[in-house]
Parts: sequence; C-alpha cells; structure tokens
Amino acid sequence: MIWTREKRYQPYSAYSEADKETLAEQVSSSVYKPAFHIHPTSGLLNDPNGFSYFNGQWHIFYQAFPFGPVHGLKSWVHCVSDDLVHWHNLGIALNPGNQYDSHGAYSGSAQVINDKLFLMYTGNVRDKNWQRRSYQLGAWMDENNQITKVNQPLITAPDYVTEHFRDPQLLKVNDEYFALIGSQDKQNLRGEFSLYKTQDLKNWEDMGYIKHNLGDMGYMVECPNLVYVDDKPVLIFCPQGLPQNILPTDNIYPNVYTVGSNLDFKTGTWYSDTSTLMQLDAGFDVYASQAVNAPDGQAYLISWVGLPEINYPSDKENWAHCLSLVKRLKVVDNKLYQIPVTAMSTLAVAEQTLPQNQQVLVTDTKQQYELKLDLDSNQTGNLLLASDGTSDNGLQLQFDTNNEGYLIVDRSNVGEKFATKYGETRKVNVNPHKKLSLDIFVDHSICEIFINGGEQVMTLRFFAPQTQTMIAFSEQNTLKYSGSYILLSDM
Ligand code: FRU
Repeated sequence: MIWTREKRYQPYSAYSEADKETLAEQVSSSVYKPAFHIHPTSGLLNDPNGFSYFNGQWHIFYQAFPFGPVHGLKSWVHCVSDDLVHWHNLGIALNPGNQYDSHGAYSGSAQVINDKLFLMYTGNVRDKNWQRRSYQLGAWMDENNQITKVNQPLITAPDYVTEHFRDPQLLKVNDEYFALIGSQDKQNLRGEFSLYKTQDLKNWEDMGYIKHNLGDMGYMVECPNLVYVDDKPVLIFCPQGLPQNILPTDNIYPNVYTVGSNLDFKTGTWYSDTSTLMQLDAGFDVYASQAVNAPDGQAYLISWVGLPEINYPSDKENWAHCLSLVKRLKVVDNKLYQIPVTAMSTLAVAEQTLPQNQQVLVTDTKQQYELKLDLDSNQTGNLLLASDGTSDNGLQLQFDTNNEGYLIVDRSNVGEKFATKYGETRKVNVNPHKKLSLDIFVDHSICEIFINGGEQVMTLRFFAPQTQTMIAFSEQNTLKYSGSYILLSDM
C-alpha cells in the first residue's frame, strides 16, 4: 500500500468496516502486541492527550490514525481506567473533519470544569495548496463520555508565529485559566512557549512568549507540559532541532524536562536556579509525554513510546507504537524521578526469587514480566533479556558498578533492526562503587528500565522472536545480586 497524501487524509468514512476489521486483526494476532501497555486497536498511535481524572475514573486519549502505520488524519481515541494500570479502550472520541480541524484533531489536554471535562486541542487545517493553519479548539465531554465541540476556535494563531502553533496545555491557576502552547516564531524560526490567559474560556489574552533562561530551544517546541512535583514547577517538552551543546542526544528529537523555582503567570516568566535541560528518558523511544497533577495529590506521567519520522518493524503489520506505563513523579535535588505506580502489583501472577550462581536466571519468561534486580557494587557484567541462551543474542544490559559506573542498553542483537541510523546503544552513568538497582518491565516488544528508584529511566521498543524467552547473563557468572522475576498478566 502506497500511502499517498490523498489516502492519509481522506475521511474515515472512505474506509469500510471490513478494512478496519482486517487492521484490527493484524494487531490482535501480532506477536509484538503489548499485554499491559495501551496500544492501538488498529493503525497508528502517537501522543497521549487529555490525561485527567474525571467522573471517578482516569482518562487518557491518544492521537490515532486508525487506518495504517502512518501519520494521517488524526483523531483522539479514549481509554479509561480505575487504577492507572487496567485500561479499557472506548474507541474514537474526538473526530476530525469540520472547518477548523479538517486535517486532524491534534494533541491537547483536559481540565475538569464544573461537572464536565473540557478538552483543549489543536485543529490542523490544510488549504488546497497544502498550506497549514492551526487553531486552538475546545470541546466538552459529559459524564456519559459524550463530546460536544465548541463551534468557534478559542485561539487563532497570532501573526508573529508560523503555522507551527500547537499542543495546548490548559492550566487552572486560582480563578483563571492559562494555555501553554508550542510555537515557532515567524521571524527567527525558533521554538517558543506561547502563553494565553482567560477567565471564561472564550476571551483569550495573548501574553506572548514565556521568558526563560533555557537558551535556544531549536526550531520548534512540541507538547509543552507544566506539572508541579513536590511543589516545584517542572516543564516537560519536545524541542525539535535542539543544539547538541544545550543537550546532547542520539534520538531524532528528545523529550526533555527542566525543574524551575516558579512560573510567574502575571508576567509569563520562568524562573529557575539552573538552566539545565535533562532528558526525560535515556532510552530510545520516548516522546510527547504528558503529566498531570491529580486529585490524589500525586503527579503522574505517561509517554508515547515511539518517535516521529522513524519506521518501526510493526509497520509491516499495519500498526505502530504504544504508550508507556503510567509513572508517578517526584523531585529530589532538582532531578525528576519516575516510578511505576503501586497498582502495577495487581498484574502479578507469580513471583520467583532469582537463582544464584547460574547463567540463566529464567528460562521461559512469556515476555511479559517485571524483573527486579539489585546488582552489588564493584562488578561488571552483561545481562541479556529476550535471550535465546546460545550466544549474545538478546537485548543486552551491560553494567559496571565498579570504577566507571554505567548501564548500557544495546539492542543491536535482538531481532529486527530499525532506527539504526540513530545508534543501537544508549548509556546512562550511575554512581561507581555503588549498588545498581533495576526495576524492568518487559511486555513483548517494549522494555522500560527504572534505574535506582526511578532516578533514570530507559524506555525502548525491540522486536525479537517470541521464542527468545530467557533472562541470562552472557557468561557463567560469579556475580553478586539479588532479585525476583514476576510474571505479569494482561491488563
Ligand atoms: C507530536 C505531534 C504534535 C501534534 C501531534 C499530531 O508527536 O507532532 O505536535 O499535535 O503529534 O499527531
């Protein structure tokens, strides 16, 4: 199938029910299909949108092109959960197609307002010369999950930004609402954070760009997201074309964060003690993460596990990508920690202590498990996940808790190759001569590695034969470690 522009943007009604069933069947029969991660029921999934708690349930929507593994006409698909772990997919909630979102209901956020959930999103429009226009739009969702669009744009792009103006995050600050929007300045073609203010969601005051000391943000900022974690404002976003001297990264585009001391909404100024940008995730595949301050007092984060402009092996099965687990956030010494939510334990089916003095730790993982592994200090070694037990085949985790202190994830010897242009290893530094604590979730084709209590996270996709089911060290070991293997159920 050649995905022409016409095919990507034709109305959903042009596809038959049979087309959709075939696509859904391709996902459900895929060996790569995740068991406890939100994934598309058909076609492509990208950014998480509208992460919120409303009407006694958690809500997440995701960007979807349900008809193939490509970025086409986007809608929002709705998922709900009681515990942030078991998610139910309710199908498409927000359809594109009117004059303000004819070419896609793009990313956005949600806020509970009175007894409804207000969705704020970007309407993507192309004219006949394929010139893009972006509108910031609204929609109300009631307690029956019925959505009614606001029929006029909330915000139209000011003349000093280009057509790249999207991904509003609606924030409530005292009695006012603010929208944080990713934009590209027309004069400099650089990425900026636009700020708007409103009392009534109808009249919006343009407060200009947020003033900050973070330096050059590249040519575009996507998915800006402000969340308060342990009383500190944390700004999470996706700068495209970020200079390597500001933050070196191997990924095509990074997802980054910075911890501030205050965002002054009166003046639109970001204050921080440092101007440091950090990678939100040190793995290969995290983008467009969205965090929310929840009514339970916690801050939670969820990420798209996928990157723009990269082909993944599941594309040939006509589907692509998944969302990460939900992660609870905390800040320690201006560093963001990401921790799996406690309800993950409800997926546990059986737990076994890891054997000592053996090369193979688990023979048949079923590829859906949690591995808790504490490696003692002053050792080096190589742990293989999805190993066939015969060689170095597998997802390699090379560790050094000795003089250097590092963890390297190497996906060059595990199944189908992809995105090799961006390198096949990722490395994090850890404290030398210290214990290394790993909490790893493997779900068929996705792996999330939480390091030292979530101080660093490495998330990645890998596409290995499901017959490679061992967890093993690459050599007969005399290593010192402790831990357990927990078989997990479907969500
Ligand atoms: C990020 C992004 C957003 C946009 C959406 C469209 O992945 O490009 O900026 O709103 O995806 O699906």
